[in-house]
Amino acid sequence: MSGGPYTRQLEELASESLGVPVVSCSSGTAGLILALRALGVSGGEVITPSLGFIASAHAIRAVGATPKFCDVSAEDLCCGPEEVLAAWGDDVRAILPVDLLGVPAPMSALKSIAIDRGVPVIEDACEALGTRVDGDPCGSLADAASFGFYPNKILTMGEGGLVACRDQELANRVRQLANQGRTGPGFSFEGEGYNFRLTELQAALGASQWLDLEERVSDRIRVADQYREQLKSVSGVELSPSPDLSGERNRRSWFTFVVLLDKAEWRDHVRQDLADSGIETGLYFPPITQFKPYDQAPGGDLPVTESISPRMLALPFFPDLSSLEVEEVVLRLDRSLQNCLS
Ligand SMILES: Cc1ncc(COP(=O)(O)O)c(C=O)c1O
Repeated sequence: MSGGPYTRQLEELASESLGVPVVSCSSGTAGLILALRALGVSGGEVITPSLGFIASAHAIRAVGATPKFCDVSAEDLCCGPEEVLAAWGDDVRAILPVDLLGVPAPMSALKSIAIDRGVPVIEDACEALGTRVDGDPCGSLADAASFGFYPNKILTMGEGGLVACRDQELANRVRQLANQGRTGPGFSFEGEGYNFRLTELQAALGASQWLDLEERVSDRIRVADQYREQLKSVSGVELSPSPDLSGERNRRSWFTFVVLLDKAEWRDHVRQDLADSGIETGLYFPPITQFKPYDQAPGGDLPVTESISPRMLALPFFPDLSSLEVEEVVLRLDRSLQNCLS
């Protein structure tokens, strides 16, 4: 069953946190597809960064448009106006920035170039639930934004998603599309539609977790802060870049904890050393343009992506990682990097 009291509760909680109308759906990818379709995108090009998860590109392709990949800024690993304008072409129908690793893409600046050019902004906020900039939660400033609730996310329902919408009219369109084009009770349908509904079971899990959202975000901040502090004394590595999000009205909600090794060629060796100590690491993210059908030869068009992606290493990161475990990871990383440096 779907669309019952738990779904309503989840949507009320989410709408209250984000300050805009929301519609729950079956995944973050489904949310991107719904947002693109509800905003009338069905062809042409959609500008999106290559550094990110492949779902953003798949969603663009699923609505019949072509992803036009842009680079990211070395300051925050998100695309900003400079990168988007460098990729601009004759047939751009939307911009789809990604809040990578919980870092907010510069939404006000992106909105302003989108408004000038008459296209919508669809924010991929799947990794940024809980991030806020100057009091505005990620997902609340775009025309539409998608959140995902896969188990590696800040809050999870196994699978699930949510579309934040700029107004109620857009939210109604998203809801209709997510539910077979249904316009009312019984057999009343109009236009296209999908089954991208969230189930009541998932919504019940989501609603109960949403009540703890602040605690979940703070727990992750605590672990990230500990890593940041301890990594200060380690050579051969830097933190992945982020704008200054200090102050009460700003906050980064950590999706995963990524460091940048000084040299890409160290990465396999470091991963092996850590694996030998029972420490699992991840590769967030290879460029989307590395994979078919989006592959393009590295050729300097995406210089920041191409130089940073091979240096990225995700360290173990979950909210109940203990201080001792963080210390152990940093110690092993330090030892491995000392070998690389010697
Ligand atoms: C940036 C980004 N976009 C989209 C998605 C897709 O979300 P889902 O797996 O819920 O479809 C993810 C999931 O990992 C993601 O990280």
